[in-house]
Amino acid sequence: MSPLASQVRTVQGLDLAAERAQLGPALEEAVLRVLRSGQYVLGPEVEALERDLARMHGTAHAVAVGTGTDALWLGLLALGIEPGDHVLTSPFTFFASAASIALIGAVPRLADIDPDTALLDIGAARAALDGRTKCILPVHLYGQLVDMRALRQLAGGKGISILEDGAQAVGSRRDDYACGQIGNAATFSFYVTKNLGAAGEGGMVMTQDAQVAQRLRQLRDHGSPAKYVHARIGTNSRLHALQAAVLNVKLPHLERWNERRRHIAQRYDQAFRGSQNVVPLLVAPGAVHTYHQYAVRIRGSRGRDRVQSALAEHKISTGVHYPTPVHLQEAARSWGYAAGDFPHAERLAREVLCLPVHPFLADGDVDYVAETLLSEAKD
Ligand SMILES: Cc1ncc(COP(=O)(O)O)c(C=O)c1O
Repeated sequence: MSPLASQVRTVQGLDLAAERAQLGPALEEAVLRVLRSGQYVLGPEVEALERDLARMHGTAHAVAVGTGTDALWLGLLALGIEPGDHVLTSPFTFFASAASIALIGAVPRLADIDPDTALLDIGAARAALDGRTKCILPVHLYGQLVDMRALRQLAGGKGISILEDGAQAVGSRRDDYACGQIGNAATFSFYVTKNLGAAGEGGMVMTQDAQVAQRLRQLRDHGSPAKYVHARIGTNSRLHALQAAVLNVKLPHLERWNERRRHIAQRYDQAFRGSQNVVPLLVAPGAVHTYHQYAVRIRGSRGRDRVQSALAEHKISTGVHYPTPVHLQEAARSWGYAAGDFPHAERLAREVLCLPVHPFLADGDVDYVAETLLSEAKD
């Protein structure tokens, strides 16, 4: 092991203490402001967040909800997806992407990923469309946008809508568009660990379509256009002002944090160049990745799990997102898929390892992780 890698360090996957050290007084002031205001649900803090995120992503509307999962299933409802409709998504994602489809009684259909990027493969998606497909739900995994122009072309003229799962992609861009500009709607998650993380839960739906936005504002409030008037069946999923206030303090820092994540990713990419056993996922030309996760494939004889354990012994925290593809989950048993159906997703689930990439990492931490990983992944 090199002298650098032999230094004793602890490298966490998330550093909320470092974030508090930077923003603590502003966060505390924002929380107190809400407590004193008495406006705890929706209200001006939530409206400010909706306005600023819509501006940042170039969408006409943004509707804040309780979680990223609610954003997905309410988004599907707002797009008019009904029980029995087929909705196509990726087998390599957090389970919520597919569960949200099943939650409304629609039928999750899956198409394999491109193994180099881990994003939905457009050719496989084309082959998986059928006469009942009403929506495609691409997942901007790890913070890289799916090729939305290609997907739009695929859906065009067939009456198929697109709901982008941008839970991991606040601030991501590709070519000249951001999350929510090309799909009929797009969702965000503000769960604690996300690039823009609340002090709890939160979600948002972005859309260019005023009618979809209006439906969402009703759906998040029991289908209510006015007090005690219920136009449709909805739920209670209104973002709390405390969460919006926290997010409003963090949002002005997001571009800089995402830029730092990109710098860290480039440093890793450089360190792993030429390695047979540590292979980073690819960034598509024109993609401005926000690296919610920085993922590599661990090849070679030691295997991903043993390499991960070795890193843990060096006090380096890593994650496997995700160890089991959607179609092999017990909850998906009735969807009609089996092992072998999506070989790229299944292989990635065995090989993928996500390295620390939060914006408070020092370059020395990144070098330590890279050197330790290269050494531990050797055959
Ligand atoms: C790809 C993806 N979709 C959906 C979700 C669900 O978001 P939430 O946890 O806010 O409900 C997540 C969050 O982990 C996610 O990573």
